[in-house]
This record gives sequence, structure tokens and C-alpha cells, in this order.
Amino acid sequence: MNQQPHSQHVPFAAHLIERRDLSEDTALFRIAPDEGALAQLFSFVPGQFVQLSVPGAGEIPISPADLPTPEGTLELCVRRVGHVTELLHELQPGATLGLRGPFGSGFPLKEMAGRPVLLLAGGLGIAPLRSLLMHLLRQRDSYGDITLMYGAKQPRLMLFREELAALAAAGGLRLYLTVDFAPETLDGGYSCAVGLLPDLLKGFRFDAATTYAAVCGPPPLYRCLVADLERAGVHAERILLSLERRMRCGIGRCCHCALGQKLCCLDGPVFRASDLKGIPEAL
Ligand SMILES: Cc1cc2nc3c(=O)[nH]c(=O)nc-3n(C[C@H](O)[C@H](O)[C@H](O)COP(=O)(O)OP(=O)(O)OC[C@H]3O[C@@H](n4cnc5c(N)ncnc54)[C@H](O)[C@@H]3O)c2cc1C
Ligand code: FES
Repeated sequence: MNQQPHSQHVPFAAHLIERRDLSEDTALFRIAPDEGALAQLFSFVPGQFVQLSVPGAGEIPISPADLPTPEGTLELCVRRVGHVTELLHELQPGATLGLRGPFGSGFPLKEMAGRPVLLLAGGLGIAPLRSLLMHLLRQRDSYGDITLMYGAKQPRLMLFREELAALAAAGGLRLYLTVDFAPETLDGGYSCAVGLLPDLLKGFRFDAATTYAAVCGPPPLYRCLVADLERAGVHAERILLSLERRMRCGIGRCCHCALGQKLCCLDGPVFRASDLKGIPEAL
């Protein structure tokens, strides 16, 4: 990546345009980065992350939920889990934020061209995969079959469900949804299984010899899905995992995000399963 030192170390200003609640603890924040940041952001590749700073709270890594719009706004889907995200959720439109990046490796889009893509998202893992999904659908003719399997704990925690159902209804996307359990009625005109995400893979017929799989979700999911995908015949080089580690600098200086000899912020956050073999703590 060819970045000026300024943009790597010092955040550019950005402003919160609007927030939309997606569930009880997760919201979609639309932000408008200042001109300096925008020039960098247009190089964003799905899977990369930005360092978002909330003044007075701190800085956190977030993978944008879509590519920047032509008007220059960026969508970040953020769950309220702790200090910085709590404060972010309290901000009103117009609030000033800071932005560095994009950083890290994204999905290998050129290599994936022409191939079927299977996206597997668990819980909040849909956020980083949404930017990949939107890219694939906008360039629909450049890829083979596109399938999204998305699992959430409960229907009310399923993010973007109307949007995903509309995308599937428009054609070009095969969508399989599942929830761990369904205490409330499943409304919204889409069908949804009850079970775990790996259950959706069982019996799923696809061209494993050419398919690229992109996985993002809670840590226990990775080991299970990688084993299932490999058993189905997907080569570990074509299993792409978007990993999360605690980060500080985001640019390879502090080693907070070390995974064996690799750094999540530089070598990842998107890794091939084949690159993680021999690093037991990675999955
Ligand atoms: C590359 C990358 C992309 C990410 N993308 C998103 C995204 O799109 N949306 C989103 O909501 N979150 C995302 N995260 C996670 C997000 O960075 C953390 O939730 C955030 O840093 C928590 O900050 P906090 O101050 O609110 O919480 P803290 O007060 O720091 O911690 C609260 C809880 O969250 C856990 N936690 C904190 N940071 C992380 C982390 N990096 N990974 C796992 N657990 C963590 C802590 O162990 C603790 O249990 C991403 C993380 C990485 C590394
Ligand atoms: S976050 Fe500092 S080296 Fe990765």
C-alpha cells in the first residue's frame, strides 16, 4: 500500500452523518471523512480495516461494511461492547471523529474473478463480509455463483435481514439464513432455518474445486468451518478468513496483534487458511 506517513499515524477528521439501529446493540454509522482521508479511502478493498477514533475515548479497528460511496461517505457497522463503542453509540449527527487507513490485506478480488464465492458469516461477521458481498453484486458478471450463509443467535439479532432478503429476491445471490433458536416469529417474508451455521453447509451442493470461501464470525466458528470446507473439497488456499485481534497501531509497529510470526494488521486481517496452518493460536 502506498500511503503518506501522515495518514498512517495521524487521523484525518470525519463527521458522523447519521446512525441507524440494526439491533439492540449494533448500529450502522454513516460518516463523511474529510478530503484528505477520502483520497486514501477510495483505495479501500473489502476486508481491509480503518482505525476509527472517538475523541475522548480512544481508537478502534473497524472493517467498513461497504465501499465508500461516490459522494464520499463510509458505512461502519459497530456493536456496543465496551468503552469506545459505548461512546460512539452516544454520539449525535455532526459529531467529529478521526479516521486512519485503510490498513491490512483485503480479499484477493482479482484472483476470485470468474469463480463461485461462498460467504459464511456468523453474528457480527456479516459486517466485514457485507462490503465483499456488495462489491461482488455490483460486479455480478465478473464472478460465478454467489452464496451467502448467515447465522445469528436469534431473528432479532440478524443484521441487514430485509436488505439481504431484497438482494436475494432481485436475483444473483443465493441466501441461506439460520438462527440458533427462534423464540419469536420469523417475519419479513424470508425463510430462515433453525440451527447452527455449519448445519447449512451440510448437504449443500457446490463446485468445491473452484469455489472461494470467505468466512467471518466468532472465534469458535473458524476451526469448525475450515474443517467442513476442506472435507467438502475446498482447498485451504481458497478459504479466506477475516480474523480479529486486539490492535493498537494498526500498522505493524506495536506487535499487539501478533499471530505467531505474522501480524494481523499487516498480513491480515484476511488470511488464507493455508497460511495459518502451524499457528495453533490463530483459530
Ligand atoms: C480488523 C478488525 C475489524 C473489526 N471490525 C469490526 C466491525 O466491523 N464492527 C464491530 O463492531 N467491531 C469490529 N471489530 C472489533 C472492534 O474493534 C472491538 O469491538 C472494539 O475495539 C472494542 O472497543 P471498546 O473500547 O468498545 O471495547 P473494550 O472496552 O476495549 O472491550 C470490550 C470487550 O470487547 C473485547 N474486544 C475488544 N477489542 C476486541 C477485538 N479487536 N477483537 C475481539 N474482541 C475485542 C474485549 O476483550 C472486551 O471483552 C473489529 C476488530 C478488528 C481487529
Ligand atoms: S496493531 Fe500494532 S502491530 Fe498490529
